[in-house]
Amino acid sequence: MRIGVYPGSFDPMTLGHLDICERGSAIVDKLVIGVLENSSKKPMFTVEERLQMLKEGTKHLPNVEVRPFSGLLVDFLREQKATIVVRGLRAVTDFEYELQLAQANRNLYPDMETVFLCTNAQYSFISSTVVKDILHHGGDVGHFVPENVIKIIKQIRRN
Ligand code: PNS
Repeated sequence: MRIGVYPGSFDPMTLGHLDICERGSAIVDKLVIGVLENSSKKPMFTVEERLQMLKEGTKHLPNVEVRPFSGLLVDFLREQKATIVVRGLRAVTDFEYELQLAQANRNLYPDMETVFLCTNAQYSFISSTVVKDILHHGGDVGHFVPENVIKIIKQIRRN
């Protein structure tokens, strides 16, 4: 069984993330979305909220699981018996950072491979950072975030 991990902060989940989940789940038997818990960045959403968004946003994908992780990605890969890391590329500007991550991970775990998937061009301008900024200023993220995830965000921000 070919198991892939799609790791990230997902703070919050965007349409770009959903696109990569759909593409990634089509090329592996099981795709585990790994939600980073102990990020050095201060997240807008708690790990429980981000897990809830991803579970809801990918519920139409039967071979996708959503799990939190902390510590090194390679340890999470071993724990999940995964050898593939899926990451999305929106533009060439993403590549340098992604290459660094991929090389560091391969160094720590030589049996793994990183697979880069190209985000659909219509989502190439979307990032969680942009979504957070819009939310912060009370704007509409309807064109940036999956519909069922918007409902969760509205619920969280109302509380
Ligand atoms: O969505 P992001 O924030 O760009 O995702 C970055 C992520 C979670 C993939 C990366 O920070 C990560 O893998 N962190 C876990 C710690 C780790 O393994 N570091 C060593 C490799 S650089």
